[in-house]
Amino acid sequence: MDNFISVFDSGVGGISVLREMVRLMPNEDFLYYGDSKNAPYGTKTTEEVRTLTIEHTKSFLKRGAKACAIACNTATSAAVRVLRQMYPEVPLVGIEPALKPAVEKYPTGRVLVLATPMTVREEKFHKLLNRFGGDADVIPLGAPGLMEFVERGELDSQKLRKFLTELLAVYRVGGSHQVDAAVLGCTHYPFVADVISEVLGEEVEIFDGSYGTAKELKRRLDVAGLSNPPEHKGSVTFENSAPTKERMALCEKLMTS
Ligand code: DGL
Repeated sequence: MDNFISVFDSGVGGISVLREMVRLMPNEDFLYYGDSKNAPYGTKTTEEVRTLTIEHTKSFLKRGAKACAIACNTATSAAVRVLRQMYPEVPLVGIEPALKPAVEKYPTGRVLVLATPMTVREEKFHKLLNRFGGDADVIPLGAPGLMEFVERGELDSQKLRKFLTELLAVYRVGGSHQVDAAVLGCTHYPFVADVISEVLGEEVEIFDGSYGTAKELKRRLDVAGLSNPPEHKGSVTFENSAPTKERMALCEKLMTS
């Protein structure tokens, strides 16, 4: 396999971004790689996540990737800058919390950003906040433990509902810190968006960055003249660093959810 696009995440979460990419670019060949063996990334040190992300990207390029997508907010904040310096010629996209569209819609509202502890701690997020936060009241909230539900394929359960209710009680409609919008700043979270929405209240608008990232990848490929011709039938291959039968089946399930 060569001439493919690598899509990388700490686990199965980045499939929420891959879905959008395939919709937008059905003629491309995608290799989705989840590093579930080393997940979660969000509670590791920046150095650890940077090293893992660089290692994996190097191997995708060695195998013949024509472009790389980091479908993980945490890995993006730790490594995208250095990867761009290392490989200036490669179309390389990352993902960041969709704060911009949320603030555009609610310029003076209260916007909750749910992400991993590393994403909300990193300089990249603080720059994003300075750039797009405007007059909104932006509330970054690290959610350690949430991605694990998705990794287990537990997308709707009483245990998940209880976890989210405890985490989000004050932000829900009628709560003391009621919000207008919630940004899902981790690619695992869209898979539990229905439960998040149920807990926060249907009025709270949910934003995520998958579509924006897919669009950016398409733009970068077009600019570089690397897009496949329309007659090429695209494909998706899943790989994982801990490829149990259950996990590989979960990848397929999430892809069509
Ligand atoms: N899916 C990842 C993200 O978008 C992080 C999950 C984790 O490994 O902690 O940030």
